[in-house]
Amino acid sequence: MDTKLLSTDIADFSSPLLAVFAVDIATENDPKPMPVLLCASDAVSKAAEHFLTSGEFKAGLCETLLLHAPARLRAERLLIIGLGKAATLSPDQARKGAGTAVRFAKPRGLRNVAIIFPDYRGLSDEALEHLPLALTARAIAEGAWVGDYDPDTYRTDRTDQSIHTVTLLSTEPEKSTAAKIEQGFAEGNILGQAQLFTRTLVNEPGNVLVPLELARRAHEELEPLGVSVEIYSTEKIKELKMGSFWAVAQGSEQPPALIVMTYNPATPPANGSPVLGLVGKGITFDTGGISIKPASDMDKMKYDMAGAAAMIGAMRAIAQLKPACKVISVVCSAENMPDGKAYKPGDVVTAMSGKTIEIINTDAEGRLVLADGLHYAITRGATHLIDAATLTGACVVALGMLNAGVFSNDEDSYGRFTKGLELTAEGFWRLPCTPEYRDLIKSNIADIMNTGGSRWGGATTAAMFLKEFVGDTPWIHLDIAGMAWMEENKPWIAKGPSGVAVRSIVEWVRNF
Ligand code: BES
Ligand code: ZN
Ligand code: ZN
Repeated sequence: MDTKLLSTDIADFSSPLLAVFAVDIATENDPKPMPVLLCASDAVSKAAEHFLTSGEFKAGLCETLLLHAPARLRAERLLIIGLGKAATLSPDQARKGAGTAVRFAKPRGLRNVAIIFPDYRGLSDEALEHLPLALTARAIAEGAWVGDYDPDTYRTDRTDQSIHTVTLLSTEPEKSTAAKIEQGFAEGNILGQAQLFTRTLVNEPGNVLVPLELARRAHEELEPLGVSVEIYSTEKIKELKMGSFWAVAQGSEQPPALIVMTYNPATPPANGSPVLGLVGKGITFDTGGISIKPASDMDKMKYDMAGAAAMIGAMRAIAQLKPACKVISVVCSAENMPDGKAYKPGDVVTAMSGKTIEIINTDAEGRLVLADGLHYAITRGATHLIDAATLTGACVVALGMLNAGVFSNDEDSYGRFTKGLELTAEGFWRLPCTPEYRDLIKSNIADIMNTGGSRWGGATTAAMFLKEFVGDTPWIHLDIAGMAWMEENKPWIAKGPSGVAVRSIVEWVRNF
């Protein structure tokens, strides 16, 4: 897909599909739906006029109405896309609207889509405050990329429906504003493509995307962008005494991969500047190991590397957005298998940090690989950590599929993360990891155990385990188990891998 930003006369632009956004300006006092177009073009308004007043279109979020051969427009079709209530409008609705335009075009064989940049000038001042133009442009570009993805890669009867070009039409006359829109659009393209790359990785089956293949793909994608990618396997993992990571990896025929990706800013940061450490859980398939999972839904455990994929996608965006901080990402990738060589419940292993761990359940493997990944990131110079992992079913029980869990031991770092959420509109909900919960992981035989004795508070138990390995380093932990895979299609995004956390991790980095 190609994306373009064009300043042009809208009526004169020829396209198979021209999309225009509309909002509902109904108020509490006057609740009857009142759709209005976010577009100043007379020709577009005239073409849509009848349908907006007829009552058949209410401008609900992602509601669509298609007009063929609209009078006065060179476009073959005009697609009106609702963005919901004007009062709650934010760039996120534009993101979803852009995705909807793309997903509307795909099955209809329309390969080129034009989207009219929303004109907010008719809205109230209050609404305008939440609608920065650069962020709107960025969201639209992201939404277009996200909408173009379909997960049916291995169908032999697959027809490629991908979009050739998405053109954003802006009529902004003010030079400085136009420049902001342009910058936002460029960033959105980078972020959208990064999410796409993450989703492509997560979608791959476990027999294709084994740990070393994940490493190879990270290398292939990131090295040309100037990120150095080191790939290590069994020997180095043993040499580093990563006993916790190795415990998980030892039961598989597939060698594990320790992937270290480093981004260095062009201007070397001053001594003492923060070095950001991004750590990802890369279990390419999680059978549960000896504590084997039930057969139902086990197939989904190919997405147990979504945290790693989010970090690799984030590094891709970071390489292009070029923040001022050094960023180092550590991915611990392995396959969790039952085998004669597999680790067992009751085993005691020693992590790289020296801590001893009693294994209670071999299905709690994610925290084991992350334990060594987090510690290693610190030895490589990370001063601030963030990790992402499809870590616990308990987090899905707690938050469902609309919010991922976020845990932190540091208010400043957490603040930078939540500040980013205002732009990324990804759902993250904070859960506790305060010292009172430490008892959950006390072991009789070793320093700690890898699961709690009880199943209550399982997401926090996992976080408490990770916390043992970060020491005083400011740390954020994202449990994305419920958000990394979507069970249902949405008008703006296909079901399957979601690419969650990429945007928010990048934003956290940019907030330093
Ligand atoms: N990969 C799973 C967590 C998971 C569950 C991800 C559902 C996505 C959807 C993880 O390795 C796991 O199995 N965790 C166990 C921990 C338990 C044994 C303490 C779980 O959540 O049941
Ligand atoms: Zn598991
Ligand atoms: Zn797992």
